[in-house]
Amino acid sequence: MFNDKKVVFSGVQPSGNLTIGNYLGAIRNFSAFSEEYHCYYCVVDEHAITVRQVPADLRRRTYETLALYIACGLDPEKNTLFVQSHVPAHAELGWILDCYTMFGELSRMTQFKDKSAKNADNINAGLFTYPALMAADILLYQTELVPVGVDQKQHLEIARDIAERFNGIYGETFVVPEPYIPPTTGGAKIMSLAEPTKKMSKSDENENAVVRILDSRDTIIRKFKRAVTDSGSEIRCGEGKEGITNLIGIYSCFTGKTTEEIEREFDGKGYGDFKLAVGETCADALTPVREEFDRLIADKAYLESVMVQGAEAAYKSARKTMSKVRRKIGFIELKK
Ligand code: TRP
Repeated sequence: MFNDKKVVFSGVQPSGNLTIGNYLGAIRNFSAFSEEYHCYYCVVDEHAITVRQVPADLRRRTYETLALYIACGLDPEKNTLFVQSHVPAHAELGWILDCYTMFGELSRMTQFKDKSAKNADNINAGLFTYPALMAADILLYQTELVPVGVDQKQHLEIARDIAERFNGIYGETFVVPEPYIPPTTGGAKIMSLAEPTKKMSKSDENENAVVRILDSRDTIIRKFKRAVTDSGSEIRCGEGKEGITNLIGIYSCFTGKTTEEIEREFDGKGYGDFKLAVGETCADALTPVREEFDRLIADKAYLESVMVQGAEAAYKSARKTMSKVRRKIGFIELKK
């Protein structure tokens, strides 16, 4: 079914309730590739344990992330949806690629620096080598294109460097992947509603700063109403107007309208009207996602059948790359 198609791979960590930043910057765009590419969308539970997790929460969120993929329009018959730890080749290639990744390169990763600052009592080796495992995820499937949010660009660059380094030593082994950063808000991030100079983060302690994909309609509208803006009154993008600029960006993502169109639409209107419009538009867009999610999450047996089917399909393809890699680096392959 998937022969000759180019490959798309992306992953989402089951480590928190996803935000509209995750939705607009990544997941919403995933289904656009389903027809033209063979798409692998992975729930990366092995990445999640680089930060300490409560086991029951991790398990629940793994189901939830898979359900959310499907609720966001990814058809399991058209995409390979699977859980990372169900395909041992990820950890296996991850180890091998650790040996082709430099200490200095890993030390420069901003996500490592941020996460070690936040988890000062648990700066474990996995947190440090995280990008090599991510490279393994991508390279295992001979991926051409990786849709990710801007914050993952640096990890994509190191994955490309690792692939090129390995290919340079052993000859063509891996396809060198390209990032696909969706043009949401002109490539900018979705910012916090409370502190619009900071990225909207799913782990923010201030719930009002974050709009989650699964928030109720009322919650979404309330959060937008409370969004921090400036003391001016015009609906315009610009410096000193980070709050309004962010809201314009979000509104633009949901409606497809340009900044100019939005500024014209709200010319002469006040912040209150605008915030309500953004809230309602966002809530309307997410209602069907939440309803589908609620239906799916009640059906664990179905979700597990998707996991089984996904893991088998992923393994089939990963196996080929692993066998090539083992041969190239000098491991003995036993005939079974
Ligand atoms: N690091 C990504 C994030 O935190 C998740 C991820 C892991 C990923 N492996 C991947 C994304 C492979 C794209 C491709 O968002």
